[in-house]
Amino acid sequence: MQDIIDLTRFPLDRPDSPEWQAMVARARADLAREGMFDLVGFLRPEALAQAVADLAPRFDAEAFTHARKHNIYFRKDIAGLAPDHPALTQFETINQTLCADQIGGVVQRLYEWEPFARFLAAAMEMPALYTMADPLARVNAMRYATGEGLNWHFDRSEFTTTLLLQAPDKGGDFEYRTDLRSPDNPNYDGVAKLLTGQDPDLKRITLTPGTLNVFRGKNTAHRVTPVEGNTPRIIAVFSFFDRPGVLFTPEEQIGFYGRAA
Ligand SMILES: [Fe+2]
Repeated sequence: MQDIIDLTRFPLDRPDSPEWQAMVARARADLAREGMFDLVGFLRPEALAQAVADLAPRFDAEAFTHARKHNIYFRKDIAGLAPDHPALTQFETINQTLCADQIGGVVQRLYEWEPFARFLAAAMEMPALYTMADPLARVNAMRYATGEGLNWHFDRSEFTTTLLLQAPDKGGDFEYRTDLRSPDNPNYDGVAKLLTGQDPDLKRITLTPGTLNVFRGKNTAHRVTPVEGNTPRIIAVFSFFDRPGVLFTPEEQIGFYGRAA
């Protein structure tokens, strides 16, 4: 893996070393404080260039264009909330998606590398994490061209692991509002305030290519702003679960990818 990741800086291969422990401790502290952590420069520049070169023709030829209208909950209605409540405002999300069976090379190798899952589990303070069995969902690559973005939502999964492969010239920023809701308090009025641009606690980060980002998005609302300019935003998304063998149903596969495996 030394050709993909600088293992001196990021010693994922040495889980018994003090350097590994320190990396995990930093990640945990960042997660506790910010709800996310970044490993800037995680992927070597040559590996990054290779990954983009591998994916670009496949995006052009065979990606699924995923366009959908959704609210922040990805649900049609919410019990106890009037259909016209501003928390249910609909937004549009568009991207091109490649599935695991269309992705090889660097991105696939990293996903399959067991020390990667081991490090993520330690950072998330979970006993173990496992790659998915789903032939489409295991690892995805998304491309956002000009005008496209990922609109406001809460994640359905506990955490999300992404690797930015290419940054746009402008736009494509990651915006988030930490702990906008909690398991006891859905805070619909707070959600409405965010969606109408009136939340002073909104934060924004611009990721650099090669950065690994791990994000707790279940209660932290987030979006990727529309891309501007001719360079698309390209990001790899890795899916891990607390148990092996997780599969999507054919209906879920069609919903996310336009086809079943
Ligand atoms: Fe998300």
